[in-house]
Amino acid sequence: MDGFRPETWTISSNEALKISIIDEEDKAIQFKPLFTYPIYGDKEEIFGFKDLVIHLVFDSITMKPFLNIKCESILNDDVSIERDVKEKIMKFLPVDDIIYKDEIKWIDCFQDERSRYTLPDSKFKVDEYELKGEIFGVYKFKLNGYSDNKINKLFKRIQIFTLLFIEAATYINYEDEPNWELYVTFNMQNKKFIGFATSYKYWQYEGNETFDKDTRYKYNGKISQFLILPPYQHCGHGSLLYESLYKGWLKDDGIIEITVEDPNENFDDLRDRNDLKMLSREGFFQELYDKVDEKELLDTEWIDDKRLKYKIEKRQFDRIIEMILLHMGL
Ligand code: ACO
Repeated sequence: MDGFRPETWTISSNEALKISIIDEEDKAIQFKPLFTYPIYGDKEEIFGFKDLVIHLVFDSITMKPFLNIKCESILNDDVSIERDVKEKIMKFLPVDDIIYKDEIKWIDCFQDERSRYTLPDSKFKVDEYELKGEIFGVYKFKLNGYSDNKINKLFKRIQIFTLLFIEAATYINYEDEPNWELYVTFNMQNKKFIGFATSYKYWQYEGNETFDKDTRYKYNGKISQFLILPPYQHCGHGSLLYESLYKGWLKDDGIIEITVEDPNENFDDLRDRNDLKMLSREGFFQELYDKVDEKELLDTEWIDDKRLKYKIEKRQFDRIIEMILLHMGL
């Protein structure tokens, strides 16, 4: 009998969870998560339902979240199974902010919020760029609540994207830590939320004296989580957000090196492309070419000097040099 075969009551949680973003014309853009194991366990399976769909929906501007769980039938009509599915995901969502099941209430709430919604104060804006005729702004905030409570609320709404799209991501503990920062990209015209990066600064101890005798206030800037919402990927936003972070840290005397926490392959690609673009713009390709042309050995001191100038960490700079040399056919 079909009803007693466990596989007919089992569904992949990656398939069951449908994420949607509602745009300004109230059209839904739906996409699937890459990972659900932090929520539904390593096997990424949910047992006990037929045709289970977990709708996790966000307004594209305010990111006000909505959750709904629908299915054709529940095994033995056991409502505790549905409660369990709900509770597991609720642990990672802002409980006092998310609306469950009541879609009309959610629409009313986000529309009301939209009507009063403004972009953050311009004092938080660190960069601006144009893409396909639209203007986007990159804003930077302290994450421990001192800069803007509105931003803390937004961050609580969007944090779940890190679990769903970045392997091994966990929620960051920023409450008592003044060095966490959040960078957010907004569309300046329609105010849509596009993507974000979290970063923190940590003391750099060793080897400083070779770079600068004054070791006070010297930090490494580390990119921790970096994400562009799926509907806006592959348009250049990731590169431009990275460039904004990099530019800010490059001119910040307190930062001596820029690092990335557990970059994945896509981020490595993005970083390589943008570091290479920047180094080419800065004339480093030519400098390296001249150095090699003079048949000089690429001495570590020269490389280290350049590396410190561009604040790129050693492993990344070595990779970049290798790529440039390959590109030059050397
Ligand atoms: N038309 C077509 N393709 C374009 C355009 C365009 N106008 N502009 C850029 N692209 C291409 C780029 O060439 C690049 O191609 P490639 O993948 O073949 O190298 C690709 O689009 C991506 O480049 P961007 O658009 O600059 O980056 P994107 O905005 O897509 O963001 C990111 C990249 C951040 C990796 C995004 O895919 C993402 O958020 N993924 C999920 C989360 C994730 O993996 N984050 C990184 C984890 S590591 C960490 O957090 C430290």
